[in-house]
Formats: sequence, C-alpha cells, structure tokens
Amino acid sequence: MELKDKVVIVTGSSSGIGKAIAEFFLKNGAVVYGFSRRNSDFNNDNFHWIECDLLNEESIKNGVSQISDSHIDILINNAGYLEQCDSLNFSKEVFEKTFQLNMIAPVLMVQNILPKLKGSVVINISSISDRLGDNMYALYCSSKAALNIYFDSISTKYKDFKIYSILPDYVDTPMLRKDMEGKDFKWDSILKTSDIVDTVKLVLDSDLPNNARIAVINNHMIEDVEPIEKLFVYNSDSKKMEKGK
Ligand SMILES: NC(=O)c1ccc[n+]([C@@H]2O[C@H](COP(=O)([O-])OP(=O)(O)OC[C@H]3O[C@@H](n4cnc5c(N)ncnc54)[C@H](OP(=O)(O)O)[C@@H]3O)[C@@H](O)[C@H]2O)c1
Repeated sequence: MELKDKVVIVTGSSSGIGKAIAEFFLKNGAVVYGFSRRNSDFNNDNFHWIECDLLNEESIKNGVSQISDSHIDILINNAGYLEQCDSLNFSKEVFEKTFQLNMIAPVLMVQNILPKLKGSVVINISSISDRLGDNMYALYCSSKAALNIYFDSISTKYKDFKIYSILPDYVDTPMLRKDMEGKDFKWDSILKTSDIVDTVKLVLDSDLPNNARIAVINNHMIEDVEPIEKLFVYNSDSKKMEKGK
C-alpha cells in the first residue's frame, strides 16, 4: 500500500512496538496521530501527539475530537497492559485495567472514529498469548483472546473496514523488560520491534481475508504456533463424539 499522505492512528506510540510502527509510517510520508499519555520524541511535522488515557472513555472521545482529518486510513490498536498475578488471586483494579486497555479501549477507538472509517484497515496488536494459557498471565491472555473474538463479532456487521489481528510472540520492548526483570531470559532469541513493523507492512501489502490472524514468531518459537485446540464434538444425530477437525 502506498503510505504517503495516508492518515494513521497508532495507540501507544510513545514506546516499544507502537513507537516503531509510528516511526515506520512517518518515514513513509504518512500523517500519524499518536495516542498515549507520554509524548513521543518524533521530530516530524506529520506527527500529532494526542494526549490520551485510554483507560478513560472521555479521554478517548476528547482525543478523537482533536483529529481534523475526515478520513482515517489505518488504525493501529497497539497500547496494552501486562501485569503478572495469580489466576485466582488478583485485584479488581488489575483485572479492570487489563481488560479496559487490552480489550475495551480498541473497541471504543473504533466506535469513536467509525464515521471516518471507509475502506480503512484496523490492525490490532494482540498477542500469541491469546492461545497460550499461563497461570501468572491469565488476565493478559484472556483479555487478548476476548479482543480477537470481539473484533470477529464486529466484522459480522461492519463492512466499511477490514480487521487484522497481529499476534506477536515475545518482543524486546520496555513492557517485556519490566515483566522479565530479575529473570534469566534469552533476549537474543526473541523478536525485535522491527519484526512487527515488517509484519504490519506485509499485512498492508497483502490481500489477506478479513479477520485474518497473523502470528509472529522466529525459529525459536515454532512450538508456540502448534495447534492447541481441544475441541471434541458430540453430534446428536450420529450419537457419536469425535475429535474436532
Ligand atoms: N512485548 C511483547 O513481548 C509483546 C508480545 C505480544 C504482544 N504485545 C503487545 O504489543 C503492544 C505494545 O506493547 P509493548 O511491548 O510495545 O509495550 P510498551 O513498550 O510498554 O508500550 C506500551 C504503550 O502503551 C501505551 N499505554 C499504556 N497504558 C496506556 C494508557 N492508559 N493510555 C494510553 N496509552 C497507554 C504506552 O504509552 P504511555 O505510557 O505513554 O501512555 C506505550 O506507548 C501491547 O498491546 C502488548 O500487549 C507485546
């Protein structure tokens, strides 16, 4: 896709993956609206920082109202939150923050810019964690799984924009550095933010079906994308239960 003069929103443009994606669009001549609480240090007239707390609906509305362009070509829902806590021992605050930012904020973004989405593309930066349950990441994993199925549901009615979900495995970012603090972790064998940028570029240049999910891995991560579905089907006509295909 030719990106010059395209109008793009990137949430969470102040750090990590979102920052790299915003930089990529700016380098290719797009106009970028970056939603975040902290400013990003892009020295580019095409970048417009929208100070926004995505946990707050009014702040999202207010942020969107600052966009003068009548059309948004690409929305990248990237901002996310990760805090480890036991799957049966977590605070309401962490539960709400995780789901509010990872699942509800992307929905509110689409709701609020809907009139500006015509023939547009929405890309959610979800996570491969949507399918890999883990005790200490239960809230994170389930919020990403909820995000994906919610957008599948949106797309059954709203056809003015395409939706793609990118599911990265581990990426070296401030979020992961904080999460892994004090742990022995093989930083050399994980993804870089540039790998996610490459994936966004490929998605925009490909003709993938609507709702496609794109896992991003490297050779160390092959096992993470093996099928995990444990679906068994009981058919009331045949009276048989079989493993789902
Ligand atoms: N790193 C990984 O291994 C990995 C793997 C799979 C998926 N992901 C996903 O990739 C996305 C980006 O993560 P990252 O690793 O790049 O993290 P990061 O470096 O911590 O960046 C997170 C971004 O989200 C923004 N953000 C957080 N809370 C916000 C709020 N309340 N309002 C507005 N913006 C907020 C932050 O901006 P401010 O603090 O300035 O507000 C920041 O720009 C997330 O959705 C994450 O789940 C990451």
